[in-house]
Amino acid sequence: MKSDILFKPFEFNGFKVKNRIAMAPMTRARSKKRDIITDLAPLYYAQRASAGLLISEGIPVSKEARGYAMTPGIYTREQIEGWKKVTEAVHKENGKIFAQLWHVGRRSAKSITGTTPLAPSAIKNPDKVYGPLAEGGFGLIETDFPKAMTIEDINRTKQDFLQAAKNAMEAGFDGVEIHGAHGYLFDQFMRKDANKRTDIYGGNVENRIRFVLEIVKLLVEEIGADKVAIRISPFVSEIENYDEEMPETALYLMKELNAFQLAYLHLSENIGNFREVSDSYRIEMKKIYKNPIMVCGNYTKETATEILEKGWADMVSFGRLFITNPDLVERFKNNFPLEIDSSESAMTYYGGGAEGYTDYKKYGE
Ligand code: PHB
Repeated sequence: MKSDILFKPFEFNGFKVKNRIAMAPMTRARSKKRDIITDLAPLYYAQRASAGLLISEGIPVSKEARGYAMTPGIYTREQIEGWKKVTEAVHKENGKIFAQLWHVGRRSAKSITGTTPLAPSAIKNPDKVYGPLAEGGFGLIETDFPKAMTIEDINRTKQDFLQAAKNAMEAGFDGVEIHGAHGYLFDQFMRKDANKRTDIYGGNVENRIRFVLEIVKLLVEEIGADKVAIRISPFVSEIENYDEEMPETALYLMKELNAFQLAYLHLSENIGNFREVSDSYRIEMKKIYKNPIMVCGNYTKETATEILEKGWADMVSFGRLFITNPDLVERFKNNFPLEIDSSESAMTYYGGGAEGYTDYKKYGE
């Protein structure tokens, strides 16, 4: 008999979802002026609300946290009001949605934030982000050389995350996911090649994971562990640099995270430059980390079912498949054909309006 584990509810310590399928956080770069979420977003997210959990696109927690133009924030009154319409639309469809809270660290430019990008240390990789072009319009621009964060910068950023989590609650989100992956701020602090600090936030592994742990603690105390999650990507590297110790560092982080009993730990496996996650690493993870695990990275219905059956994950998130298949859960359940993501659908990932955003149909429509 075929397993139907993907469609079974999941519950942990107050965190409850109707099935094991999540929509992964995905930047769609369609925000309105003043970085307010687009008016099309309530429909976009509601169309996908049959997922057990929707995770929002990355939401910068402050102006200086931004790394890309047209990504919607959650730090002004009108931005919060914009997100309220999204959460209301999702809840009306009996869905759940977490806000992904984002700070890009050094992966930014002055022309996007108005300030020098912040980083653990003043080190830059060759890197391009989506921002205003000198000749007008938008496109890929080289990041600016970052400044090493002072303790004051670190403390202000902690407060920005705390405020963003409160704002997310006010906006009606069911929880928040801290973006600790993909070469952004917390990933930079954890990686030895990006973090050369000599204070309590650099050097040994305890110090390199301190910043993100402090934020986890603040958020758990404020909104509750069942509403806090974290995303990491120890096997993904930003550019060509690879911190060989990162998988170990991540295990150390997991050991420390255990006590918080977070809603889930989200392992992003397959984006940009990545290495395969070995079975032995997954087994090690399960030994060390006792709380729910969500995995993401080009899973199919079959591979997702397999990893859940093995007990190496509790939920699986899908990214691009959810762009082209708003009813992905029903398609999986009924073995309906999938609308495959293609180079054509990729043209409307970022920017633009309804096309490639809210105009994908349910099967049979
Ligand atoms: C992207 O816009 O391509 C993007 C943003 C955030 C991520 C990964 C990719 O974590």
